[in-house]
Amino acid sequence: MHKDIGSIIYSESDLNERVVALGKQITEDYKGEKLIVVGVMKGANLFVADLIRKLDLDIILDFIVVSSYGSSTETTGVIRLLKDLDENIDSEHVLIVEDIIDSGLTLEYLVKNFETRNPKSVKICTLLNKVERRKVDMKVDYIGFQVPDEFIVGYGIDYAERYRNLPYVGILKRSVYE
Ligand code: PRP
Repeated sequence: MHKDIGSIIYSESDLNERVVALGKQITEDYKGEKLIVVGVMKGANLFVADLIRKLDLDIILDFIVVSSYGSSTETTGVIRLLKDLDENIDSEHVLIVEDIIDSGLTLEYLVKNFETRNPKSVKICTLLNKVERRKVDMKVDYIGFQVPDEFIVGYGIDYAERYRNLPYVGILKRSVYE
Protein backbone atom coordinates (compact mmCIF):
# COMPACT_ATOMS: atom_id res chain seq x y z
CA MET A 1 0.00 0.00 0.00
CA HIS A 2 1.17 3.58 -0.74
CA LYS A 3 2.64 5.29 2.35
CA ASP A 4 0.13 8.20 2.15
CA ILE A 5 -2.89 5.91 2.28
CA GLY A 6 -4.42 5.21 5.70
CA SER A 7 -6.67 2.38 4.57
CA ILE A 8 -7.97 0.73 1.43
CA ILE A 9 -11.76 0.83 1.11
CA TYR A 10 -12.12 -0.95 -2.25
CA SER A 11 -9.43 -3.30 -3.43
CA GLU A 12 -8.65 -4.02 -7.07
CA SER A 13 -10.84 -7.12 -6.95
CA ASP A 14 -13.74 -5.28 -5.21
CA LEU A 15 -13.62 -2.68 -8.00
CA ASN A 16 -13.45 -5.29 -10.72
CA GLU A 17 -16.39 -7.23 -9.30
CA ARG A 18 -18.56 -4.09 -9.16
CA VAL A 19 -17.53 -2.95 -12.65
CA VAL A 20 -18.52 -6.37 -14.04
CA ALA A 21 -21.95 -6.13 -12.33
CA LEU A 22 -22.54 -2.57 -13.58
CA GLY A 23 -21.49 -3.58 -17.10
CA LYS A 24 -23.99 -6.45 -17.05
CA GLN A 25 -26.81 -4.21 -15.84
CA ILE A 26 -26.09 -1.47 -18.40
CA THR A 27 -25.82 -4.08 -21.19
CA GLU A 28 -29.28 -5.42 -20.27
CA ASP A 29 -30.83 -1.95 -20.03
CA TYR A 30 -29.58 -0.77 -23.44
CA LYS A 31 -29.93 -4.08 -25.35
CA GLY A 32 -30.37 -3.36 -29.06
CA GLU A 33 -29.73 0.36 -28.64
CA LYS A 34 -26.82 2.53 -29.67
CA LEU A 35 -25.21 4.28 -26.71
CA ILE A 36 -22.84 7.22 -26.41
CA VAL A 37 -20.70 6.76 -23.29
CA VAL A 38 -19.23 10.03 -22.01
CA GLY A 39 -16.32 9.88 -19.59
CA VAL A 40 -15.88 12.99 -17.45
CA MET A 41 -12.15 13.72 -17.31
CA LYS A 42 -9.86 13.35 -15.70
CA GLY A 43 -11.22 11.35 -12.78
CA ALA A 44 -13.42 8.90 -14.70
CA ASN A 45 -10.57 7.85 -16.99
CA LEU A 46 -9.78 4.50 -15.36
CA PHE A 47 -13.37 3.60 -14.52
CA VAL A 48 -14.74 4.31 -18.01
CA ALA A 49 -11.91 2.34 -19.63
CA ASP A 50 -12.74 -0.70 -17.49
CA LEU A 51 -16.51 -0.28 -17.74
CA ILE A 52 -16.77 -0.13 -21.55
CA ARG A 53 -14.88 -3.42 -21.80
CA LYS A 54 -17.78 -4.99 -19.89
CA LEU A 55 -20.45 -3.57 -22.22
CA ASP A 56 -21.73 -5.97 -24.83
CA LEU A 57 -23.30 -3.12 -26.81
CA ASP A 58 -22.79 -0.90 -29.84
CA ILE A 59 -21.17 2.05 -28.07
CA ILE A 60 -19.37 5.23 -29.03
CA LEU A 61 -16.88 6.54 -26.50
CA ASP A 62 -16.58 10.27 -26.00
CA PHE A 63 -14.94 12.48 -23.38
CA ILE A 64 -15.68 15.79 -21.81
CA VAL A 65 -13.21 17.75 -19.71
CA VAL A 66 -14.59 19.91 -16.94
CA SER A 67 -13.07 21.57 -13.95
CA SER A 68 -14.62 23.42 -11.06
CA TYR A 69 -13.19 26.58 -9.57
CA GLY A 70 -12.30 26.33 -5.90
CA SER A 71 -9.86 24.68 -3.55
CA SER A 72 -9.03 20.99 -3.84
CA THR A 73 -11.54 20.13 -1.11
CA GLU A 74 -14.42 22.54 -1.68
CA THR A 75 -16.08 23.30 -5.01
CA THR A 76 -17.54 26.73 -5.76
CA GLY A 77 -20.08 25.25 -8.14
CA VAL A 78 -18.74 27.27 -11.05
CA ILE A 79 -17.93 24.72 -13.72
CA ARG A 80 -15.51 25.32 -16.58
CA LEU A 81 -16.02 23.29 -19.74
CA LEU A 82 -12.48 22.72 -21.01
CA LYS A 83 -13.28 20.22 -23.77
CA ASP A 84 -16.72 19.61 -25.21
CA LEU A 85 -18.09 16.41 -26.77
CA ASP A 86 -16.88 15.41 -30.22
CA GLU A 87 -20.18 13.65 -30.92
CA ASN A 88 -23.54 15.13 -31.83
CA ILE A 89 -25.95 13.67 -29.24
CA ASP A 90 -29.17 14.78 -30.97
CA SER A 91 -31.63 11.81 -30.71
CA GLU A 92 -28.99 9.58 -29.04
CA HIS A 93 -28.90 7.73 -25.73
CA VAL A 94 -26.16 9.21 -23.53
CA LEU A 95 -24.57 7.68 -20.45
CA ILE A 96 -22.39 10.06 -18.42
CA VAL A 97 -19.69 8.21 -16.49
CA GLU A 98 -18.18 9.79 -13.37
CA ASP A 99 -15.67 8.57 -10.82
CA ILE A 100 -17.35 10.33 -7.89
CA ILE A 101 -20.35 12.54 -7.22
CA ASP A 102 -19.86 14.91 -4.35
CA SER A 103 -21.93 18.15 -4.31
CA GLY A 104 -23.55 17.08 -7.60
CA LEU A 105 -22.84 20.49 -9.15
CA THR A 106 -20.67 19.14 -11.97
CA LEU A 107 -23.35 16.70 -13.07
CA GLU A 108 -26.16 19.19 -12.68
CA TYR A 109 -24.27 21.45 -15.08
CA LEU A 110 -23.54 18.63 -17.53
CA VAL A 111 -27.07 17.20 -17.58
CA LYS A 112 -28.59 20.65 -18.17
CA ASN A 113 -26.04 21.38 -20.87
CA PHE A 114 -26.62 18.02 -22.65
CA GLU A 115 -30.40 18.33 -22.43
CA THR A 116 -30.34 21.47 -24.58
CA ARG A 117 -28.96 19.26 -27.39
CA ASN A 118 -32.10 17.10 -27.68
CA PRO A 119 -30.73 13.65 -26.72
CA LYS A 120 -33.06 10.60 -26.62
CA SER A 121 -32.03 10.05 -22.99
CA VAL A 122 -29.35 11.06 -20.50
CA LYS A 123 -28.41 8.74 -17.65
CA ILE A 124 -25.69 8.87 -15.02
CA CYS A 125 -23.28 6.18 -13.87
CA THR A 126 -20.87 6.87 -11.03
CA LEU A 127 -18.38 4.57 -9.40
CA LEU A 128 -18.63 6.35 -6.05
CA ASN A 129 -21.50 8.32 -4.56
CA LYS A 130 -20.89 10.62 -1.62
CA VAL A 131 -24.47 11.57 -0.72
CA GLU A 132 -23.54 13.31 2.53
CA ARG A 133 -22.01 16.14 0.50
CA ARG A 134 -24.85 16.56 -1.98
CA LYS A 135 -25.99 20.16 -2.60
CA VAL A 136 -28.43 19.49 -5.44
CA ASP A 137 -31.00 16.75 -5.86
CA MET A 138 -30.39 14.37 -8.71
CA LYS A 139 -31.26 10.90 -9.90
CA VAL A 140 -28.22 8.68 -10.26
CA ASP A 141 -29.03 5.66 -12.40
CA TYR A 142 -26.01 3.40 -11.76
CA ILE A 143 -23.90 3.51 -8.60
CA GLY A 144 -20.82 1.43 -7.84
CA PHE A 145 -20.54 2.16 -4.12
CA GLN A 146 -21.95 4.60 -1.57
CA VAL A 147 -18.94 6.16 0.14
CA PRO A 148 -18.53 7.97 3.46
CA ASP A 149 -17.43 11.61 3.60
CA GLU A 150 -13.72 10.82 3.75
CA PHE A 151 -10.78 12.05 1.68
CA ILE A 152 -10.81 9.41 -1.02
CA VAL A 153 -8.15 8.89 -3.71
CA GLY A 154 -7.09 6.27 -6.22
CA TYR A 155 -8.49 4.54 -9.32
CA GLY A 156 -8.62 7.89 -11.15
CA ILE A 157 -9.34 10.14 -8.16
CA ASP A 158 -6.65 12.62 -7.20
CA TYR A 159 -5.49 14.91 -4.46
CA ALA A 160 -3.54 17.78 -6.08
CA GLU A 161 -3.27 15.62 -9.24
CA ARG A 162 -1.54 12.77 -7.39
CA TYR A 163 -2.65 9.18 -6.61
CA ARG A 164 -4.81 8.70 -9.74
CA ASN A 165 -2.73 5.65 -10.66
CA LEU A 166 -3.41 3.67 -7.49
CA PRO A 167 -5.26 0.50 -8.55
CA TYR A 168 -7.47 0.64 -5.44
CA VAL A 169 -9.62 3.28 -3.71
CA GLY A 170 -8.26 4.39 -0.37
CA ILE A 171 -8.50 7.06 2.29
CA LEU A 172 -5.72 9.64 2.27
CA LYS A 173 -3.90 10.15 5.57
CA ARG A 174 -4.80 13.47 7.22
CA SER A 175 -1.10 14.35 7.57
CA VAL A 176 -0.86 14.64 3.77
CA TYR A 177 -3.34 17.51 3.44
CA GLU A 178 -3.34 19.15 6.87
C1 PRP B 1 -14.22 15.60 -9.46
C2 PRP B 1 -14.98 14.38 -9.97
C3 PRP B 1 -16.27 14.95 -10.46
C4 PRP B 1 -16.49 16.13 -9.55
C5 PRP B 1 -17.51 15.77 -8.51
O1 PRP B 1 -13.60 16.21 -10.53
O2 PRP B 1 -14.28 13.72 -10.98
O3 PRP B 1 -16.18 15.36 -11.80
O4 PRP B 1 -15.24 16.44 -8.91
O5 PRP B 1 -17.71 16.83 -7.63
P1 PRP B 1 -19.11 17.58 -7.52
O6 PRP B 1 -20.20 16.54 -7.45
O7 PRP B 1 -18.93 18.33 -6.21
O8 PRP B 1 -19.28 18.51 -8.66
P2 PRP B 1 -12.48 17.37 -10.39
O9 PRP B 1 -13.13 18.71 -10.60
O10 PRP B 1 -11.73 17.16 -9.12
O11 PRP B 1 -11.57 17.10 -11.65
P3 PRP B 1 -10.81 15.73 -12.08
O12 PRP B 1 -11.89 14.78 -12.60
O13 PRP B 1 -9.89 16.19 -13.17
O14 PRP B 1 -10.10 15.17 -10.89
